[in-house]
Amino acid sequence: MADYDLVIRNGTMATAADAVRADIGIKQGRIVALGASLAKGAREIDASGKLVLPGGIDSHCHVEQKSSMGHMTADDFFTGTRSAACGGTTTIIPFAAQHRGMSLRQVVKDYHDCAGPKAAIDYAFHLIISDPTEQVLGQELPALIRDGYTSFKIYMTYDALKLDDRQILDVLALARREGALVMVHAENHDVIAWLSDKLLLKGHTAPKFHGVAHAALAEREATHRAITLAELIDVPMLIVHVSGREAIEQIRWAQDRGLRIYAETCPQYLFLTADDMDKPGFEGAKCMCSPPPRDKANQEYVWRGLENGTFQVFSSDHAPYRYEGPDGKLMHGAATTFKKVANGVPGLELRLPLLFAAGVGTGRLDLTQFVALTATTPARLYGLYPRKGTIAIGADADIAIWDAEKEVTISQSMLHDAMDYTPYEGTRIKGWPVMTLSRGEVVAENGEFKGARGRGRFLKCDISPAARPLGRSVTGFDPETGTYKRG
Ligand code: URP
Ligand code: ZN
Ligand code: ZN
Repeated sequence: MADYDLVIRNGTMATAADAVRADIGIKQGRIVALGASLAKGAREIDASGKLVLPGGIDSHCHVEQKSSMGHMTADDFFTGTRSAACGGTTTIIPFAAQHRGMSLRQVVKDYHDCAGPKAAIDYAFHLIISDPTEQVLGQELPALIRDGYTSFKIYMTYDALKLDDRQILDVLALARREGALVMVHAENHDVIAWLSDKLLLKGHTAPKFHGVAHAALAEREATHRAITLAELIDVPMLIVHVSGREAIEQIRWAQDRGLRIYAETCPQYLFLTADDMDKPGFEGAKCMCSPPPRDKANQEYVWRGLENGTFQVFSSDHAPYRYEGPDGKLMHGAATTFKKVANGVPGLELRLPLLFAAGVGTGRLDLTQFVALTATTPARLYGLYPRKGTIAIGADADIAIWDAEKEVTISQSMLHDAMDYTPYEGTRIKGWPVMTLSRGEVVAENGEFKGARGRGRFLKCDISPAARPLGRSVTGFDPETGTYKRG
């Protein structure tokens, strides 16, 4: 009788803490032993010369979600999770998105109905709160937080989603009371709307003007305002998809003040620039997202933020809208304006290989930083640790085996999503996840999906401090009375 169901042998295993040579023993989908020369497994994988890393956690992706403008994402829970698995990701945290007038409970049920029969890897949900009514804040949200939906995104822009400052304060006060984490899309709505109107009046309709309308200063102002509101309520906050210097400086300032401000960035801010939105014809639409890619100097700021710990999370913000087709970027033909183009770019499958190649491969990031940014810290911040996001005894055997030497030229034809383009077409990278295991089962191998539709399980997120160490109150503010208890 074998001691283990599976042993991954002879690899270099890395966590957010260190990289060591170790075998991994797996039983019933969990890691049960780590060490040198483990006893035999019923199945053995030889990882000689390979890196053995925790499977990635993509904690910001839009799957089977209707955008604020009514566009449906190309990926459903099957194609999205298949694509994630082939890129070394073993857990996704997409959004259950409330549109105005909807009951949050019903929204969550609808997303479960979509995900349950289709997801091929495990998943949790963030909520999107666009309608913080008394019913939502007083009843639905507290109950949902206790049921394992412990983080929610709010928007400071988009007509159909944006909250005003007073609503944001209400949401933050509730998050503080219930121990939830608020994620913020920080762009100043009126600045964007005003600039957009001016541009359109002058006939500036092409995709590149999206980058002008979504000015870095609009992102900076909203980032600062969001931080200020979080400081007032004395609550942690995570600023999502940060694009460059202006916002980074605000985040750094807040972190230096000791505020619990966390930050996320994404591949598009390292690999794309505003020039990519100025490609011939309407092709620039393929690189349109919000906030938009900036310039080379801003890319460098984002890199430095990853290196120096300003960013805790690297996710894809996978928002897949096909170029062609009824909901695509070309929806109204090339005569459309940048205002009508669905915002977002795909990235579930390429998030890890892109960061690995340009970060670990160049020496800008070490392996432990790579693991922390892409798996361990998202697991901690969102309450999935230590079951997910690390290689440890008792953790789920969610593992990606990497060939650091494998060279790949990216093309859409090799990817497993439902898209008709990748903004990274033709990019040559080194380092690729050659095998992905989810709870000990091989779900992807050498670019081929090996998993099954519907095998993914829903994960409840935990708000206990052991699972999610978000730190303590900084100022002692009491949002119920508006007074400070200490400090
Ligand atoms: O352009 C983007 N980022 N689209 C996805 C929606 C969002 O705001 O994250
Ligand atoms: Zn956003
Ligand atoms: Zn997003």
